[in-house]
Amino acid sequence: MQAASTEKIIKAVNNCPSGALTYKWSVEMEEEKQNEQALTTIKVNAGGPYLVKGSVVVVDKDGSETIKEGTIALCRCGGSQNKPYCDGSHTNVEFDK
Ligand code: FES
Repeated sequence: MQAASTEKIIKAVNNCPSGALTYKWSVEMEEEKQNEQALTTIKVNAGGPYLVKGSVVVVDKDGSETIKEGTIALCRCGGSQNKPYCDGSHTNVEFDK
């Protein structure tokens, strides 16, 4: 186990039929995992919306706030009838793809 990669060790522990094997993240790995989970990514979807993955607060024009988890699609074509969210209208609007 000492020469194995972290992924292989985790896989071996998770596949242990008796459940006798366990693992614990080091403090550094735990911090790294928390930092990764805290990151929000924005991906430009060619010909479509921005795909926002992570935890975000969407503040509407009236100041109301909505917490979103997971992935949301934000309109970047200007054609959505449900801004700031994509409603699929980009398929009918010409914009920089
Ligand atoms: S990007 Fe989908 S409606 Fe604008």
